[in-house]
Amino acid sequence: MAALRFTNIIGTGSYLPEKVLTNADLEAMVDTSHEWIYARTGISQRHIAADGETTCDLAEQAARRAVQAAQISTDSIDLIIVATTTADQVFPSTACLLQERLDIHGCPAFDVQAVCTGFIYALDIADKFIRTGNCQRALVVGAETFSRIIDWSDRGTCVLFGDGAGAVVVESGPTPGILSTHLHADGAYKDLLSVPVGISTGFRQIIEGTAYTQMQGSEVFKVAVRALGDVVEEALQANELDKDKIDWLVPHQANLRIINATAKRLGIPMQRVVVTVERHGNTSAASIPLAFDEAVRNGRIQRGQRVIFEGFGGGFTWGSILFTY
Ligand code: UT7
Repeated sequence: MAALRFTNIIGTGSYLPEKVLTNADLEAMVDTSHEWIYARTGISQRHIAADGETTCDLAEQAARRAVQAAQISTDSIDLIIVATTTADQVFPSTACLLQERLDIHGCPAFDVQAVCTGFIYALDIADKFIRTGNCQRALVVGAETFSRIIDWSDRGTCVLFGDGAGAVVVESGPTPGILSTHLHADGAYKDLLSVPVGISTGFRQIIEGTAYTQMQGSEVFKVAVRALGDVVEEALQANELDKDKIDWLVPHQANLRIINATAKRLGIPMQRVVVTVERHGNTSAASIPLAFDEAVRNGRIQRGQRVIFEGFGGGFTWGSILFTY
């Protein structure tokens, strides 16, 4: 009988660009106030990539830190997945660009596009590669320069997002590790949160600068709270676990009110929820691995603890990953 294989996180890393944009800075750019932003979202600042600094640049820093934390050599990585909505180029994929930076050759490398749920999709795919024996050690990155697809004159969206990257190295092992993954999507919601142009709908429009995020915020808010609650309950049921058996909830960091509402609905106290949205804003696919890395490095999340990641984003897409760290 083939040995059972499970996916274990052996190293984490993250990176935030140097430049910080505060709510006070935004007050000088659009008709808004720190009070409004902080009360409605819990955000007080976000990091913004420098001119010329790309998603791959951020991904590379986060990946190198995760590789160092895992104490492995990059030669042993046999799968690279990058979750991003803001790829450096139309092609090659950001994962291939990252592969070249890390001097890794020959293993599969590809991007995953599920917007803010991208990291959960990417880690789920890596888990399947590992469990089927197709890979031993994967690098999974969530990286975004979301600031590049923001209309900086639209106060409804520009106060929400930031740039950053987070990464994990996962490897095959005889015990879990990842206990369950659940992915969902419903394209019926495609118009509530989108950048409504792309390559085949009009490259010229992108060049002329209309390729920005559009969002019907309060509609997104309602569906997000419902979906994020449901997806955690789905994971708990699938594992026959009570919520008390979860040490840490690491949610997508979009809005503190969404995080609070989800935690309240699930009855999980905020002391067991990792929150970074105040300092990072919404970094889309990077938000979960960034928050996770921070909580691992500051010693809050410990080996052996049970953690649940949950994400929600454009598509809509949503999902969860439950694991023992
Ligand atoms: O990561 C993927 C998922 N994304 C999300 O989860 C985001 C979900 N949505 C949200 O987080 C919230 O809906 C927002 C933070 C975007 C907005 O909060 P809200 O409580 O839903 O406010 P609203 O959109 O209903 O707007 C309330 C008022 C409006 O004014 P009127 O029409 O009532 O006069 C807006 O024009 O607030 C106004 N407003 C602002 N005022 C000051 C909207 N943006 C701003 C702003 N500063 N930046």
